[in-house]
Amino acid sequence: MNSAIKFIEEKTGGLKPDTALILGSGLGDYTTGMEGITIPYSEIDGFPVSSVKGHKGSLFFTEKFGKTVVVMQGRVHYYEGYSMEQVTFPVKLFKKIGVQKLIITNAAGSLDKELPPGDLMLIKDHINFMGSNPLIGKNDDLTGERFPDMSEIYDKKLRELALLCAKENNIPLHEGVYVGTTGPSYETPSEVKMLKILGGNVVGMSTVPEAIVANWAGMNVLGLSLVTNFASGISGKKLSHNEVIEAGKTASFKIVTLLNSILEEI
Ligand code: HPA
Repeated sequence: MNSAIKFIEEKTGGLKPDTALILGSGLGDYTTGMEGITIPYSEIDGFPVSSVKGHKGSLFFTEKFGKTVVVMQGRVHYYEGYSMEQVTFPVKLFKKIGVQKLIITNAAGSLDKELPPGDLMLIKDHINFMGSNPLIGKNDDLTGERFPDMSEIYDKKLRELALLCAKENNIPLHEGVYVGTTGPSYETPSEVKMLKILGGNVVGMSTVPEAIVANWAGMNVLGLSLVTNFASGISGKKLSHNEVIEAGKTASFKIVTLLNSILEEI
């Protein structure tokens, strides 16, 4: 961790980002045209590198929004075979370089007929259905407690800000519960029924580990899901990863507008 921190400080000339943004599937082009400093994950000691189509692999430091923001262009997932510790390494690194606010975006499947593909959902809570927890193992007491409270992982003030920014930009923004599963297989129709009964609104294969670690470390978290498809059995259509990526790209202008607005105000 220390060598990664030192390397980033050298590369950025000691920039101290207050906000980090994790980009999900299909949002890899978000920083195109922005001025900033790019650092490939492969150059950062200990940083996991993604193998998934649609995910770039670099950190991007920008001051476009009148403040320093670090953007994670692509993430790694538990289903790629990385440990929970590796999946959440970037969040721990962000905390160590002074990041206080973490915005997490993802592509997700909708469990609700009223939440169609192309729409955005603000995550108000999550259900960890991954069968593991990123805080298992020795606790780093200097960063967070052994048994951290999780009653408000997704910061209320940031959620209010996101709703306000959405309103100002005429972007419909639903609110709901994100269910995190391991993947990589999509759900069966029966599993989708179950997740809906359990209280979920969307389902995806990321976000939960990062959000748990960020909350444990005392960071303020905002989560946004871009609905790319109806989950299995809801529309009767089969799911394909290519379609998920394409849907993500088509609707990405909404999330890009919203993110820009939030980053200006945050
Ligand atoms: N299920 C799980 N993860 C997903 C989905 C889905 O339907 N769509 C995008 N990520």
